[in-house]
Amino acid sequence: VQNELVGYPHYMLKEIFEQPEAIARTIAHTKVALEQLTIDTSIIEAVTIVACGTAYHAGLAANAMLEQMLNHPVRVEVASEFRYRKPIINSHHLVIIISQSGETADSIAALRLAKAEGAQVLAVVNTKGSTIAREADSVLYTQAGIEVAVASTKAYTTQITVLTMLAAYWGGADISAALDKLIHQVQRGLELDGQMMDLAEALKYEQDVYYIGRGVDAVTGMEATLKLKEISYIHAESYPAGELKHGTIALIENGTPIIAIATDSELVEKMKSNIEEVAARGAKVYIFATPACAKAFGAIAQEIMLLPSTPLYFSPIAAIVPLQLLAYHTALIRGCDVDQPRNLAKSVTVE
Ligand code: G6P
Repeated sequence: VQNELVGYPHYMLKEIFEQPEAIARTIAHTKVALEQLTIDTSIIEAVTIVACGTAYHAGLAANAMLEQMLNHPVRVEVASEFRYRKPIINSHHLVIIISQSGETADSIAALRLAKAEGAQVLAVVNTKGSTIAREADSVLYTQAGIEVAVASTKAYTTQITVLTMLAAYWGGADISAALDKLIHQVQRGLELDGQMMDLAEALKYEQDVYYIGRGVDAVTGMEATLKLKEISYIHAESYPAGELKHGTIALIENGTPIIAIATDSELVEKMKSNIEEVAARGAKVYIFATPACAKAFGAIAQEIMLLPSTPLYFSPIAAIVPLQLLAYHTALIRGCDVDQPRNLAKSVTVE
């Protein structure tokens, strides 16, 4: 039953736990949909991904994979900025609009602008028949099902699934083995639920939490920060770990909680030195790391949460799952209205 709680206390928790099936449906559907896609890739010279909120983060998460696979520059922009900066767009441009609802006003305006400039427009949308789905040249539907909670979860992970499959399809890369394992890895992420309850206890009175990561882990930090902020009302910021020393490190003092995300073995030594920098200033560091990365950290972390290991292009999916749960439990302990946070709307249909 799509839009009933079926025993869960909140839609957000239900939707977090629906991710394995939502991703499985999306994979099956996208395999077929990609074969029917009518985008002319031979004329594409540049790609711009445009979206808002969590959908924007999905674009960022898939940015590197798309760029490598297409071998063209790919940029990701928030729709409210894109539409007003007079972007240079032409018929050699592919614009990808990502939207759960398909009704976000700024994303619709960006789509219309891109079309008016002659770009091909591909939409990655969850809601059938929505404005963005209707007006785009082509659509790839995420199969998340109805998402009720304001804080987006399954829409995000299914968006990354679609974009990664699209990148692999265009790049001629065979990711079928990784796709076969993905559902199990998401389930493993859900198994961290108990640990996330404990960590939420540790964070419940905090006023500021900082997330750090490099590469795709910096994007996971951005999305995890958004989840925590929007439902628990704790101030949170995420930084690419190497950027800390250019300002944010001034805020680190004794006891400041830092959530460090490390899934990229090639960058783990760099992350280690960033973690040491904050630990030396008294930060409490909670590390979310794949087993391969965790080995590098030794005694510097208060606690290490083990993430399932995936290829890097799927780590934003595997890593965000426990961090969604962390936001959920933290909000719950703080007595917040998880599904209907203050001041926020599920779909922002006015500017
Ligand atoms: C609102 C929602 C967010 C969502 C954003 C974009 O702000 O609260 O969860 O990410 O809109 O929505 P869309 O439907 O375009 O993905």
